[in-house]
Parts: sequence; structure tokens; C-alpha cells
Amino acid sequence: MSETAVEFKQVSKDYGAGFVLNNFNLTVPKEQIVTIIGPSGCGKTTILKMINRLIEPEAGQILLEGSDIGELDPVLLRRNIGYVIQQIGLFPHMTIEENITVVPRLKGEPKRQLKERTEELLSLIGLEPEAYRKRYPHELSGGQQQRIGVARALAANPSIVLMDEPFSALDPISRIQLQKELIKLNEHVKKTIVFVTHDIDEALKIADQIVLLKDGKVVQAGTPEELLNHPANDFVKEFIGQERFKTLVPQHTVSSALAHHFSVYGYSKPADALQYAKTHELDTLPVTCEQNKYLGIIGRDQLQGEQLGDGERTVSEIMRTDAPFVRGDAPIAQLFELLKKNHIVPVVDASHKLIGAVTQGSLLEAISKQFNREEVLA
Ligand SMILES: Nc1ncnc2c1ncn2[C@@H]1O[C@H](COP(=O)(O)OP(=O)(O)OP(=O)(O)O)[C@@H](O)[C@H]1O
Ligand SMILES: [Mg+2]
Repeated sequence: MSETAVEFKQVSKDYGAGFVLNNFNLTVPKEQIVTIIGPSGCGKTTILKMINRLIEPEAGQILLEGSDIGELDPVLLRRNIGYVIQQIGLFPHMTIEENITVVPRLKGEPKRQLKERTEELLSLIGLEPEAYRKRYPHELSGGQQQRIGVARALAANPSIVLMDEPFSALDPISRIQLQKELIKLNEHVKKTIVFVTHDIDEALKIADQIVLLKDGKVVQAGTPEELLNHPANDFVKEFIGQERFKTLVPQHTVSSALAHHFSVYGYSKPADALQYAKTHELDTLPVTCEQNKYLGIIGRDQLQGEQLGDGERTVSEIMRTDAPFVRGDAPIAQLFELLKKNHIVPVVDASHKLIGAVTQGSLLEAISKQFNREEVLA
């Protein structure tokens, strides 16, 4: 089975006033939440509606799990794709149960199954089935109605759900609540979710992958961490918001990004230090004196090279003393530049004692924790 849920191949769309999309390519991996984000009018809704053939492209191909959707019956296609939009538009004269089961009923599912399905879905979206099943949409709050919209999109058990700014009409509290529920939901039911938003906070929070668009073109696609840490250009930076970098950074000090606390003594023999580095799978080690004061760093290459010599020198005689190091209580931002050029940066306390070392990986991890699902769910 292909790992790709949806693929746009050289897709072009022109509503008559020039290309909205021109040779557009996009790959949506299976079972992930992919958010499509970008300024108003950049083509987000167009892309989404092409996946369920509410809009047809002028050129190109769209594959759904490997099949060209142009060759599928649009009506059947739509029944197998969940779709949630901003104003969810529940049918006012139908009960919640009837609303949720619209598509399964069209598919001719037996009554018993419909009732079970409704109960399961209502529980999944956090509404007590017995209390809500028989109500009408006007008896629900906006947030609850929007949840029903999500339940309805899931009712036919589609493998893919399209969501076009589904939470944008909600108050901030309901919105955050629903974002959390969506993440939880996807952990349980494993759907591919293509989620359009123009709220970068929302995108960073819920996305496995973010696709940032401008004028119908992908400016950058990647994980939230990738966009934050390696913005492709100024547009990305601006869109993510310089403010975010500023607010993110001061809350953390260097010591929140520690990778490890391994080190060797300056008087060690290179052969012993090399063995130690190998055991702990480290390329570079900080060197300290017996009182644990930081002295310098030593690399495996240097240690290996020393093996070829007479082996009489100690680590402190061959270590580098000019490598940058940093205080544990310094702002984490100091590491951005340092780790561009150095694999590891030793970290010391106020009395110059070694606390540990940071690496690019540990910095990334510390930053991404901000957007960690655990935190969102907390
Ligand atoms: N039915 C249509 N006829 C003509 N032009 C259209 C039509 N639908 C969209 N467009 C144009 O195509 C471009 C992309 O529209 P689209 O709705 O995909 O943008 P969007 O990224 O979803 O914007 P928003 O964030 O405002 O929802 C816009 O310039 C829009 O004016
Ligand atoms: Mg739109």
C-alpha cells in the first residue's frame, strides 16, 4: 500500500482571471494531519475542493491512494471523503443522529448499525450520546455543532477528511478545545486530515506537516519544527511571526537543551578517552579537570590520530581550548549561531564547572517541546 494519501501532479486551475494554481505539486502522507496555510486568496480552498472534485482542474492529475480521482464517480468519491467547513451547515430539521448519519444512510447501512455508529462518534467527540442524539442543531452551541460536523465527516469511516477552516468561527476557548480533540481523535482513529487554516498558531499546534502557500505556490513544506528552525525565506519568517521567535526564546535557557553530561578528565590517556567516546557513541567530548572545571573539547578523530603517535600525551595536551562554550543560564537563543558551526557546545555554570553539552538535536528537541502534543493536550 502506498504511504501517500493524496498527490497533486502538475495541477493547474484558472477560474478565468489567470492561474490560481500553476503546475502545482503536493504530497500528503497517510494518516497525518497536514495543514495548508497561507494568506487569503492563495488557493487553499481551491486545493481542498479539488480533492473531492467540487472543483475540477484545467490540467494535471490528482491521485487518491494511487487512483486518479478524475476517473472516479464524483458522488461516490465525496461519500468516501469527509468534509468539514467553517459554517458547518447541519440540516436544521434533522436530529443530531440523522445529521451524523446522512452519508451512511445514503449508503444503505442498516438502522442498528447507524445507532451504534452515532453513539460511538458522539462519545469520540466528547458529547454524551443519550443527551444529544435526539436533539436538533439549534439546541446546541456553536462549538457543539461544529463537533457534530466533525462526527458527520467521520461517519462513513473515510480514510481522508478535508477540513476548511473548521474552527475559525468559534470563540478561542472552544477552538482550543476542538484542536485538542482533533489531535486526540487522530491518535485513536488514524485518518489523513487535510486541514486548511490561516491561523499559524492553529497550524503549529495540530500539524504533523505544514504546507505554507503564497499565490498558489508552496513556499515551504515541512514539520512545524522545520518551519520554525529553518524558515526557507523571509516570507516564512514573517508569516510565522518574528514575535513568536522572541516570545519562544527567552522562556528557555541553554540548560533546558542539554543533550548529555559525559566528559573526560584532562589527564586521561587518549586510548581510554577513545574507548569512552565509542562506548557512549559520541564524536566529541568535553574535557574537565578533577574538580569538574571545563578545560576544552576533544574529538574522536584527534584521539584516533593520537593512537598513531607514541601515545604518551594526555587528553589535555591535545584537546582544543578555543572551542566555544556557553553558560547554562544564558538564553537559549545564543545556541542558534553557535550550533551552526559546532556539533556540540559545552555548557558550564557560574563557577565554570561543566554541566553538560548541547547539540543541534537537543536544541531542536527543546524548542519543539513548545509545540509538543503532550503540551497541547495538557
Ligand atoms: N468560483 C470562483 N470563480 C472565480 N474565482 C475564484 C473562484 N473561487 C476562487 N476564486 C479565486 O481564486 C483564488 C483562490 O481562492 P481560494 O478560495 O482557493 O483562496 P483561499 O486561499 O481559500 O482564501 P481564503 O483564505 O480567503 O479562504 C482567489 O483569488 C479567488 O478570488
Ligand atoms: Mg478559503
